[in-house]
Amino acid sequence: MAANESLIRGFSSAVSPLTETLLEADSRDVGAGLRSRGNYLPAQKKIPLSRYHSPEFAALEKHKLWMKVWQFACREEDIPAVGDRVPYTVGDLSFVILRSAPHEFRAFYNTCLHRGTRLCDGAGSGASLRCPFHAWEWNLDGSLKNIPSRWDFSGVNSADYRLPEVKVGTWGGFIFINPDPAAAPLEQWLGPLPEFFKACPSEDRFTAFHIRKRVKANWKVTLEAFLESYHVVETHSDSLTFTGDASTQYDIWEDGKSHISRLITPLGIPSPHLGDEASAIVATNRAFEVFAMATPGIPVPQFDATSRLSGRAQVAEWRRGLLGAGLARDFAPWADAAMLDSVQYFVFPNFCPWYGEGLPLVYQFLPFGTDPNESVMSVRLTAPVPGGGLPRPPSAPIVELDFDEPFSSKPEIGLLSLIFDQDMSNLPRIQAGLRGAAADRAEATLGRYQEQRIQHFHEVLEKILSV
Ligand code: FES
Ligand SMILES: [Fe+2]
Repeated sequence: MAANESLIRGFSSAVSPLTETLLEADSRDVGAGLRSRGNYLPAQKKIPLSRYHSPEFAALEKHKLWMKVWQFACREEDIPAVGDRVPYTVGDLSFVILRSAPHEFRAFYNTCLHRGTRLCDGAGSGASLRCPFHAWEWNLDGSLKNIPSRWDFSGVNSADYRLPEVKVGTWGGFIFINPDPAAAPLEQWLGPLPEFFKACPSEDRFTAFHIRKRVKANWKVTLEAFLESYHVVETHSDSLTFTGDASTQYDIWEDGKSHISRLITPLGIPSPHLGDEASAIVATNRAFEVFAMATPGIPVPQFDATSRLSGRAQVAEWRRGLLGAGLARDFAPWADAAMLDSVQYFVFPNFCPWYGEGLPLVYQFLPFGTDPNESVMSVRLTAPVPGGGLPRPPSAPIVELDFDEPFSSKPEIGLLSLIFDQDMSNLPRIQAGLRGAAADRAEATLGRYQEQRIQHFHEVLEKILSV
């Protein structure tokens, strides 16, 4: 940023303060992670719309992005036992991720070395990887185990027929892969992220619900719809009474090796867009109602004017008690922000882990097949592993939603499904609109503050693709 350029960091009012003011007023110390501020602001540039639909651009991404960077594949709990495996598919690239020993994970190209059949099409398990076509078979470490009619393959030297393997790294129960054999370690790619999650460790959580949604939009269109809260005022206008959309704080951490960003959208305060209509009491009462939806039938509290606590602190305190009792865990040290707010991190290129209990989600964004106009978004709702010696719950199986199936066809995630459907309704329209743009105006113009994470994403992408 030029020295003389001033940056307006959000829009606020007396009842709708900026996030940094709310963090300072928290009933707990919010901790170093939430206090930490970004160190980077990307340069302002327009984004050519062709990169969202050009097959050439998608091919460039395949070879220079997906084949070269660390990317989020799955969670350790998806493959809890030795021999368990899942496919991780990026466009027409596919890898088998498997647990090869109690604390060891491996990833192989998902292609048989006989005649190329895909080895793993869905979650499975077993002591070996066996091709469904002629039963060529590999051990879990990738070494060749068996070839039927071995006498017919005298030219096949077993040592040369190990399954080609790619790099695997783990953090916080997440499994990442990188097909580039020369890649630097995952730790470098994650940069400050592990430090930010110290107070709320992702390894202590499990996948309570898992949806994979196919979308008629480029994977970057789908991703970018979730990197800003600027769209809330129009797309999620029914959330304005209890969501500080324009009070959202955005941060970017960039050191040339790791590319991390974050938004914190406060909950339990009204949107500054409401002006004179904004009410802190209504915001508190709506926040109580929204969080109560996760536990149908429980009595819903109301704002207590006699309490010495702020409305946000009241909602946070109620949630601490509710979650603490339900999970036999102690939430007493958790900040109000960690109990209420939407704290979403992004690790380039496809990984959004959310922090805390406000909106405990994990997103993954991927191209779908070879059509650049299609993508797949995976949404996990996570929960803390119960305390009190209770067993770790199993990871929820994946619910697949096709292009035309709404999230609301799976009412298990309650209000969230309606919010996702609001987002989803935009995506095919964006994809259609950008393909039909006037040739001399086929570019996106981004907001300086609220859309800086999208700007940053493209800056990193351009560098990696050398465009
Ligand atoms: S293609 Fe896999 S065994 Fe023949
Ligand atoms: Fe949204």
